[in-house]
Amino acid sequence: MADNFIDWFRNASPYIHAHRGKTFVVALSGAAVADQRFPSLIHDIALLHGLGIHLILVHGSRPQIEERLQLRSADMEYINGLRVTDSAALACVKEAAGSVRVEIEALLSTASSNSPMSGAHIRVASGNFVTAMPIGVRDGIDYLYTGEVRRIDVAAIEQQLINGNMVLIPPLGYSPTGEVFNLSAVDVAGAVAAAVGADKLILLSDEKDLKDGKGRMLTHLTPAQADALIARRKKLPQETKLLLSTAACVCRKGVKRTHLVSRNSDGVLLKELFTRDGVGALLSSEPYDQIRQAKIDDVAGILALIEPLEREGILMRRSREILETEINHFFVVERDGLIIACAALYPYIKEEMAEVACVAVHPEYRNSGYGDTLLSHMQQQAQQSSINRLFVLTTSSSHWFQERGFKQGEVKSLPMTKRGLYNYQRNSRVLLKKLE
Ligand SMILES: CC(C)(COP(=O)(O)OP(=O)(O)OC[C@H]1O[C@@H](n2cnc3c(N)ncnc32)[C@H](O)[C@@H]1OP(=O)(O)O)[C@@H](O)C(=O)NCCC(=O)NCCS
Repeated sequence: MADNFIDWFRNASPYIHAHRGKTFVVALSGAAVADQRFPSLIHDIALLHGLGIHLILVHGSRPQIEERLQLRSADMEYINGLRVTDSAALACVKEAAGSVRVEIEALLSTASSNSPMSGAHIRVASGNFVTAMPIGVRDGIDYLYTGEVRRIDVAAIEQQLINGNMVLIPPLGYSPTGEVFNLSAVDVAGAVAAAVGADKLILLSDEKDLKDGKGRMLTHLTPAQADALIARRKKLPQETKLLLSTAACVCRKGVKRTHLVSRNSDGVLLKELFTRDGVGALLSSEPYDQIRQAKIDDVAGILALIEPLEREGILMRRSREILETEINHFFVVERDGLIIACAALYPYIKEEMAEVACVAVHPEYRNSGYGDTLLSHMQQQAQQSSINRLFVLTTSSSHWFQERGFKQGEVKSLPMTKRGLYNYQRNSRVLLKKLE
């Protein structure tokens, strides 16, 4: 148990360093506030604040509004997926937003010595940070006090963050005419994240799992992939569509990473932010794991990946010195500082051949296509250097290469210099692939 704790803490430390001083916008629904586990979520949010993250919380208040409407035997009308807020509904919106705000502030003020909040001393700032305008009349329907974000007072929010305060924003906005408008919390969170140039937007979802409409968990997406999912998958839940389109939109406005996280298990925020693989879906404009040419700083990471395979006799032994000299031949896939896959390409220019070697994927990341991606990348590199045949010497992965177009060959098909180095004791299979 103690060892697990130490490992866990050490593994989290790169993220603790990386997140300090960054600005995160966290959006949570009114249902999250009404949930009995809400205090635990608030404790985790307080911990993020304690770790030096500048936090802007945007909350929803839908169930709280509906509760008040019910008490008045009233209803919020929805037309074309948009709510119509009349003056009776607006009164409920104002009450609900006020009460949710007070509830969150109260929880963030907890300080009893037996709670995780002990010593947190969080100051919360709320205010007129959002200017709104009515969405107006659409298709002949007047949506009355339902509004949209017109402007965000970035300077005011930044001032609060500089002062060390957590900023709390309700799903409301005020107009220059002095009116109040009912807004969507997700829209407000997206607009705030884009306006302040947040480092991350975190959208906590009420869905149990975030799936792609075909039952597969969403993990990493680019804005284009999110658009395609929304357009193609009819089965995608409405909330997932809304979160994906908001994430894609803010990404295009410069917010590098938006995390979509189902809030339906304990500690999701901590798992998402302080573990390498997280628990939610990440939308970012760059592919998450990029293949790149290895640098000298990668030597330790590559060694950590290949040494266990060398000990098992699966890969040929390479010393640190050799690896340092040959580092320019290596390609790596890095995820948050860990080398999760590597491969090397050694050209034999005279023979117009190249050796593919040292293909290794971290055991936790196998069967996810990294091996394939590395091989295609090296094929492209080889073709650009006018190489027309690849070869590989392998003891245990011959089928993997054969399924990717390599054919059995003989030692005599290898370039002369390589033939001299062939280790007959190791008895590796020689496989060759003609590049088209
Ligand atoms: C071989 C290796 C690089 C594949 O990487 P990967 O990222 O897991 O592979 P991909 O995700 O692209 O492909 C997975 C497919 O290959 C299959 N596969 C994996 N290893 C295999 C092997 N040794 N022989 C045959 N097929 C294999 C998987 O079963 C899976 O097939 P499926 O999709 O039909 O289920 C990886 O298993 C590894 O690092 N092995 C140890 C090192 C090694 O042997 N390197 C090659 C010598 S240079």
